[in-house]
Amino acid sequence: MTSWDPARYLRFGDERTRPACELASRIALVAPRSVIDLGCGPGNSTQVLRQRWPNARVCGLDSSPEMIIAAQQAYPDQEWLLANIVGWAPDVPHDVLFSNAALQWVDNHIILARHLFNQVAPGGALAFQIPSGAYSALRSFIHDIAQDKAWGSRMDGPRAALTMEEPNVYYDALAPLATSVDIWETEYFHVMESPASIVEWISSTGLRPFLAALDSAKEKQRFVAFLTERVTAAYVTRSDGRVLFPFKRIFVIAYS
Ligand SMILES: C[S@@+](CC[C@H](N)C(=O)[O-])C[C@H]1O[C@@H](n2cnc3c(N)ncnc32)[C@H](O)[C@@H]1O
Repeated sequence: MTSWDPARYLRFGDERTRPACELASRIALVAPRSVIDLGCGPGNSTQVLRQRWPNARVCGLDSSPEMIIAAQQAYPDQEWLLANIVGWAPDVPHDVLFSNAALQWVDNHIILARHLFNQVAPGGALAFQIPSGAYSALRSFIHDIAQDKAWGSRMDGPRAALTMEEPNVYYDALAPLATSVDIWETEYFHVMESPASIVEWISSTGLRPFLAALDSAKEKQRFVAFLTERVTAAYVTRSDGRVLFPFKRIFVIAYS
């Protein structure tokens, strides 16, 4: 697992936190007592949960030491747990299991989602958001560039690092267990300063495993240069000089 850079991740903090706000606002629970943010990153999504339910016990969990340190530094009065979502089994069920933009990093997260649902207290909810499978041309550009023979087999791991399924798949996995499932997609159109900003956005998330697999700074620069060229050609500059970056996300809430 490559390391995360919390400061770079938060460069687009408002845009990355907005789906967490929209997901939390849709969870139809008035006063849950225990809430956990799985894959909490630097704590941005955890703050959304604290604001939504100020009287709940809210904990953030992440497997990245860099992210947990950043969260602890920014919010020292809160509870943070350095742990892997896979294999996380609380002593007592939680009222809300929440995850914003994290489960796509876990292999077999359909099985994981069912496992997590079993950790939800009666009357509680599992709520998560992940990017949609075909979230933009950007992902296909990265995968195309990864085909370049120059990288050899080093791209095999990065290609498999992220998995995203269609809404039907999440519904079929959770509906047999849940009393009800609320599931929807939203497409955001992020206003970016330039095509290079889109590359910067993805450099701290989906592009990270690809760059980490390359040995030299020269190779990483070459990969980024190819991507910038493709992005510049594909994303049209608007009349004010900015660029719209379409980004579709899936939201799922399963109630126990
Ligand atoms: C894109 S960030 C999302 C951060 C935050 N939840 C937000 O809303 O912006 C994904 C986070 O998931 C964490 N993560 C990925 N796989 C994980 C796992 N198996 N266990 C725990 N955390 C994981 C990463 O370390 C990273 O901090």
